Amino acid sequence: MQSRPLPDAAIGPVAEAVPLERRPSKRSIELTVVVPTFNERDNVEALLTRLDAALRGIEWEVVYVDDDSPDGTADMVRALAQDDPRIRCLQRIGRRGLSTAVIEGMLASSAPYLAVIDGDLQHDEQLLPRMLAAIKAEDLDMVVGSRHAAGGGMGDWDRRRVAVSNVAARLARLIIAADLADPMSGFFMLSRPAFERAVRRLSGQGFKILLDLFASTPIPYRFKEIPYVFGQRQHGESKLDSFVVWEYLMLLVDKLVGRYVPARFISFAAIGGSGVFVHFATLYLGLKLLAFPAAQALATFVAMTSNFALNNILTYRDRRLTGRRFVTGLLSFYAVCSLGAVANVGIASAAFADHYTWWASGLAGAAVGVVWNYAVSSVFTWQHK
Ligand code: GDD
Ligand code: MN
Repeated sequence: MQSRPLPDAAIGPVAEAVPLERRPSKRSIELTVVVPTFNERDNVEALLTRLDAALRGIEWEVVYVDDDSPDGTADMVRALAQDDPRIRCLQRIGRRGLSTAVIEGMLASSAPYLAVIDGDLQHDEQLLPRMLAAIKAEDLDMVVGSRHAAGGGMGDWDRRRVAVSNVAARLARLIIAADLADPMSGFFMLSRPAFERAVRRLSGQGFKILLDLFASTPIPYRFKEIPYVFGQRQHGESKLDSFVVWEYLMLLVDKLVGRYVPARFISFAAIGGSGVFVHFATLYLGLKLLAFPAAQALATFVAMTSNFALNNILTYRDRRLTGRRFVTGLLSFYAVCSLGAVANVGIASAAFADHYTWWASGLAGAAVGVVWNYAVSSVFTWQHK
């Protein structure tokens, strides 16, 4: 048997291609729970214990999507996954963002139902089986854990955050028609077809993934809200700082006009506008000490630097440059802007020589400059690693 030579055709890759016996899994997963995390190491074990208790009788899995947390959240998840195949970890490097984390976690699932829950125990996991029962029994697309439906609550949020959240909820009406009491919720479940209908249109900006889904679905969702009370954080701290307001505005802008102009460009151009004020303020102050050329050069540098810093924390928040990359990014931004200025002056002078008015010529130059700066810096300064 062993000594019989194989026919030529059976050697190499062809011999390898003998079909494997299919081993259908005994259980198929009905629900994937996606948990976005950034520095939640101390909450991992507790959440898994709670999910296990809450989801008895349901075939579930959990996908942690961790943005390379310095506290080692991903290592913790993988260590626990060693003895539980229902636990998975998707670690992203060089990226940040709650919405994109949730989207990618869902894309990594094959289950017919998808849920999101925060990794810090502030959402009530006991709602999950009720969400699943409701979505199936009532044939819904989506069930939302709601702090504003009767019986829900904001927990211990301070007055200011409640107020900001309420204004944000009102602004949400600009981009969604659905009558959602809590469009800001980060806790919900949806069916796979409902996710797939929206996924290619999602903005992915910021952290309001629920709102993004509602604003992106071509067919309105059939949904229901189930009340819950927002819990208290035990370990770690909230990642949502004041910049979330900006990110939220970017999501709204993207959903309103993103089809025509990228939201990032609008942000970049607005910051460019702020640079004009920085420039003139610096020039005004600089002239008290320096000769005009020196003051003008100083103003140019200060404005470029402030534009860079603002774009780095606002426009490119998800690709923020830090440490040494901040410095090399700044240098490349100077280079990009210098060429942009040459293009600006060249175009404006050509237009002016062509008998356009001074302001139309100036505007044309500035427009070319900002488009150049935006396009080139998006590639060279804030490139994807
Ligand atoms: N992967 C990843 N990347 N996860 C993140 C990031 C990120 O950049 N930022 C935050 N997270 C994770 C946190 O680790 C946590 O598990 C979850 O997302 C929520 O972040 P928190 O920082 O705890 O937010 P919060 O408690 O202030 O607000 C939450 O609740 C609100 C009310 O439901 C969020 O879910 C909000 O979206 C929601 O509006
Ligand atoms: Mn939280």
